[in-house]
Amino acid sequence: MPLTAHEIAAASRLTNVRYAIRDLACVADEVIQQGHKVLPLNVGDPLSFDFQTPPHIIEAVYKAMRDGKNGYAPSPGVPEALEAIRGEAARKGITTVQDVFVTAGVSETVDLCLSALVNPGEDFLTPSPDYPLYSAVLCKLGIKLNAYDLNEDDAWQPELADIERKLTPHTRGIVLINPNNPTGSLCTRQMLEQVAELARRHNLIVFSDEIYDKLILPDSNGDVTPHVAFASIAPDVPCVTFGGMSKNYLVPGWRIGWGIVSGDAAAVKAYTEGVHRLLRARLCANHPEQYAIKPALEGPQDHLLEVQRKLRSRRDLTQKWCESTPRISCVAPRGAFYAYPKIDIPESDEIFVKELIRQKHVMVVHGSGFGQKPGTQHFRIVFLPDEPTLTKAYAGIADFIRERY
Ligand SMILES: Cc1ncc(COP(=O)(O)O)c(C=O)c1O
Repeated sequence: MPLTAHEIAAASRLTNVRYAIRDLACVADEVIQQGHKVLPLNVGDPLSFDFQTPPHIIEAVYKAMRDGKNGYAPSPGVPEALEAIRGEAARKGITTVQDVFVTAGVSETVDLCLSALVNPGEDFLTPSPDYPLYSAVLCKLGIKLNAYDLNEDDAWQPELADIERKLTPHTRGIVLINPNNPTGSLCTRQMLEQVAELARRHNLIVFSDEIYDKLILPDSNGDVTPHVAFASIAPDVPCVTFGGMSKNYLVPGWRIGWGIVSGDAAAVKAYTEGVHRLLRARLCANHPEQYAIKPALEGPQDHLLEVQRKLRSRRDLTQKWCESTPRISCVAPRGAFYAYPKIDIPESDEIFVKELIRQKHVMVVHGSGFGQKPGTQHFRIVFLPDEPTLTKAYAGIADFIRERY
């Protein structure tokens, strides 16, 4: 007698967990199976393109492995890495550091920091558009999403009036992503000061995701506005600054990130203890890779000049294309490696993106995968590929727009 298969259902709390970037892979697979090459303007991994990990940090990990650093590490991280992260916090102007800890990428920092904070019935403000991990973790925790708008007409700055509107008596904190994924925007100092004021008035903790803080791009005059760490202008406000190795040091596969807790010591004490309970429960972050943190943060930063040079040229090419292409407009990216053009089309951006893959074999991600104001359509470009690849991809998108609309 054949056994009846009973379907094992996934938890209902996952219903709203989406990761549009990876979901498009199915459409790309169709195209690849037909023998086409897909131009990937969708994945934010510099190592998939012409960027190389600085050799001295690879040596540091290799040496750590040879030196036998292959067992479990201390749960908060190895002492020399923690000290280097404190040094980095000081360079960022953060003066009220209460704690630092190492995680398996900023992804784990996000998970731990939200899990240690938010109770059922409470909420946490996340930007819209956002990096989808924040809403995925909140869904996993059974927390109702509460998104505030970024204002495209104000270079994608957080919209303060919308934050005020969205605050509830149960709001515990707010996420800032600066520089931003998916918009490539940088928060102004004035905006950070206003968010700090709001956090003080409403007793909020701020999670400031600064994973792209060394990837800052000049404006059209060639002037660079330095990145401002939220915690540096609000030393009294409870804050966890998220940082990591994936983007600035070109090692996303190593899974190394960290949290820097700052603010008034008494205010953050119980919460920090909660985070450490979770840090202990998951044992530790990757051990040998933690020995790259000190040489990365304190050693030569030459690779960043090369990265910034390439990103600037690719951002300029992207911006010029956006400005000269009908139906497209785009706020010029000022950090990271993303552009988030608005597109004026009579159908959804998800259909636009899927058909673009099928017909022109160019892969970008639809704005609805990140969130956007109702009635607007966008797509996210990752401008990491080299100039010839970008030029070919943009020609394909322009042809697609002309032929379809
Ligand atoms: C804004 C933002 N935060 C966090 C992450 C995750 O980074 P990690 O590789 O350190 O987990 C990413 C990755 O793309 C990101 O864009």
